[in-house]
Amino acid sequence: MNSRFYITTPIYYPNGEPHLGSVYTTVICDVVARFHRLQGRETFFLTGTDEHGTKMEKAAAEAGVPPLELATRYADLFRAVWAELGISNDDFIRTTEPRHKQAVTRIFQRLVDQGDIYLGSYEGWYDEGQEEFVTETEAKLNEFKSKISGKPLSRYSEPSYFFRLSRFVAPIIEHIEKNPTFVIPTGRRNEVLSKLRAGVDDLSVSRTALSWGIPLPNDPKHVVYVWIDALTNYITALGYQSDDASRFEAFWPADVHVIGKDILWFHTVYWPAMLLSLGIELPKTVAAHGWWVRGGMKAGKSTGGITTLAEIRELVAKYDLDSLRYHLLRAAPFGADLEWSVEEFEKSFNELANVLGNCLNRTLKMIGKYRGGVLGPVSHAPSELDQSLMAAIDRLPSALAEAYEKLELQQAVMLPIELARQTNGYIDATAPFSLAKDPAKAAQLDTVLHLSVQAIYRALVSLIPVLPAKALEGIRQLGVDPASFGKDPAKLWEQLPLGHKVREGSPLFPRIEK
Ligand code: MSP
Repeated sequence: MNSRFYITTPIYYPNGEPHLGSVYTTVICDVVARFHRLQGRETFFLTGTDEHGTKMEKAAAEAGVPPLELATRYADLFRAVWAELGISNDDFIRTTEPRHKQAVTRIFQRLVDQGDIYLGSYEGWYDEGQEEFVTETEAKLNEFKSKISGKPLSRYSEPSYFFRLSRFVAPIIEHIEKNPTFVIPTGRRNEVLSKLRAGVDDLSVSRTALSWGIPLPNDPKHVVYVWIDALTNYITALGYQSDDASRFEAFWPADVHVIGKDILWFHTVYWPAMLLSLGIELPKTVAAHGWWVRGGMKAGKSTGGITTLAEIRELVAKYDLDSLRYHLLRAAPFGADLEWSVEEFEKSFNELANVLGNCLNRTLKMIGKYRGGVLGPVSHAPSELDQSLMAAIDRLPSALAEAYEKLELQQAVMLPIELARQTNGYIDATAPFSLAKDPAKAAQLDTVLHLSVQAIYRALVSLIPVLPAKALEGIRQLGVDPASFGKDPAKLWEQLPLGHKVREGSPLFPRIEK
């Protein structure tokens, strides 16, 4: 396993508040980044804002402020919200920052030097919402309306520089075929492959009609069209084409770009093509998650139906942040669409309370009552039930690592909960309260207490990336100081020693007054 890990979110348009969609992507990345950090990998987690282009220009005009002012207002809000939600990003890039603009200018010049840029004339259809040119065939297919928002497409004709995308189609197809995890989930991979095989035009990469962008180094009447400007953030933030490229050297290629499925094509075709032209390695994985939908349509700022920042804040205040994080990853398998409902959220919250919280609580109570909080041995031949719980405890670290590796995140967050569920069943079946009544069964009682404590401890350790506050609180109740983990990941998976003393517990997920 590589000792470094680099993960990115898309850079968000700072033309409005963060909402459930952007929170979703960012929380996914945060959980995955935290897992890899916990495993001892040097991790770099990048997010940021995409500030140039028509979309921003228009939103600024509507708000009656210059584009940079609007961008700054919302970029600051994004930053503040990520801090508020405990997001552990290592950097936040704004595409209007000099470090980005300077690198993009150099990157564009390199594409020119490679012979991959030529001047042509662009005429066609444009989806303003998506900032995307649409081919004639596709436009016709959707009755000249946006596939995403349903709004009418606009007609454009202007001189434009083109990037020789067509040159890279064959190598990209080959790369995707040879690397089954380059695009995940598999359904998305097939989608990209069949679209690629249908043929791809060269890509218009500059605009004259737009002033809010980075001027082309070779022809400043044009500005860089948004996708080159945006996608390159993943390397400019690492210092590519700057005086200090050490981060780029250390962290590139990215382990995973997490994106919404709306921007799959850009990340799996345009971006690799640019990288190939620049002679840079391709990212290892592009992982596309599903949409939060309302009534079958993508929920969003422009389409409506999206859970707002205010609603998210209200929920976090009423319940807690960790339960929201859990629910976002628990709600559906990675890649599938999701529909928000408070009832579904409450189901996840209750699962945490009734399975995880309850398991911790009853285990602490029992060991407190029967053994003064001190962990005893497993000193008799384990029963089948004991053995099955032992096996589950042993299996969890590798099962967890595999789930995170494959980005099976619903699995990753539920595996520890399943261990707690099994432990609850084990406690029910072994009935410690009646074992306690019979002095001849003292060794059996020790075993039940011992295994229950080890199981809930392991479940909690496994949940640190998902429930950073609650898991540590539970671990402390178990009498372990999380600071003692130090930097050695092996420490995490050590079992508690005999004679270990737990503390008293209080519910991790207190019942909510309705
Ligand atoms: N700026 C571009 C991305 C450039 S990346 C080099 C962009 N920005 S965006 O703000 O419109 O959306 C970014 C991401 O927000 C989406 O890819 C997705 O990850 C997330 N989502 C926005 N709305 C969403 C839903 N309704 N559901 C799930 N995720 C959504 O596109």
